[in-house]
Amino acid sequence: MRGVILAGGRGTRLGDTTRVANKHLLPVYDQPMIYRPIATLRSMGCDDILIVSGGECIGGFAELLGAGFTYRVQAEPNGVAGALACAEGYASGLFPVILGDNYFEAPFEMPSRPTLYTSPTDNPSAFGVFDPVENVIVEKPAHPASDLAVAGLYVYDERVFDVIPTLVPSARGELEITDVNNWYLERGLADVVLVDGLWSDMGTPDSLLRAALHARRTA
Ligand code: DAU
Repeated sequence: MRGVILAGGRGTRLGDTTRVANKHLLPVYDQPMIYRPIATLRSMGCDDILIVSGGECIGGFAELLGAGFTYRVQAEPNGVAGALACAEGYASGLFPVILGDNYFEAPFEMPSRPTLYTSPTDNPSAFGVFDPVENVIVEKPAHPASDLAVAGLYVYDERVFDVIPTLVPSARGELEITDVNNWYLERGLADVVLVDGLWSDMGTPDSLLRAALHARRTA
């Protein structure tokens, strides 16, 4: 089965640490960050993985990971959904997509339908937040409807490649994965499932430290 890791973007929330280095190659305790999403996709049965990143970084991933992966360049960091568009023609049927800066403790089973994953957080305004009453996700809400962050693991089908070209850039100038996810929710085409175990992003100094400490405790 094929899976996709989105590992582009600018990594601005990590300051000078990612000014010349790609965020997804930074250490998370004893391993490069990207090893975590690779392990998550492998737990779902992926034996063929696409890495999407910027042109200036893709060579570093190829040098680290070598054969057994496919590499594609996202021409400009125009958002998570923009990065996913690069997977068109690679992924088919039902396939998982993971953000390169997301850390999941537990393995996952591959579901039989498109699926979104949520996890309680003490900082919902920093994420996409699932509103279980309205069945909608709001990206970085000032007044979150719940504490359920939408984690950066998604299972889509090929319809996703028809949805992305219909998106318009958000206020932050990006093609938002939340707009894709709401397309699936509005039509009743995706399940929403709670993540088992710890979930953390690794896009800020504090969340990266939390993930690294967890990795050390469980090494
Ligand atoms: O971590 C989960 C959150 O990820 C979700 O709750 C949000 O709904 C989702 O929008 C996303 O939010 P962020 O603002 O944290 O996304 P960020 O820009 O940090 O990008 C997350 C990953 O996506 C990052 O590891 C690299 C990849 N990415 C990002 C951009 C903007 C790309 O591959 N290309 C891009 O252009």
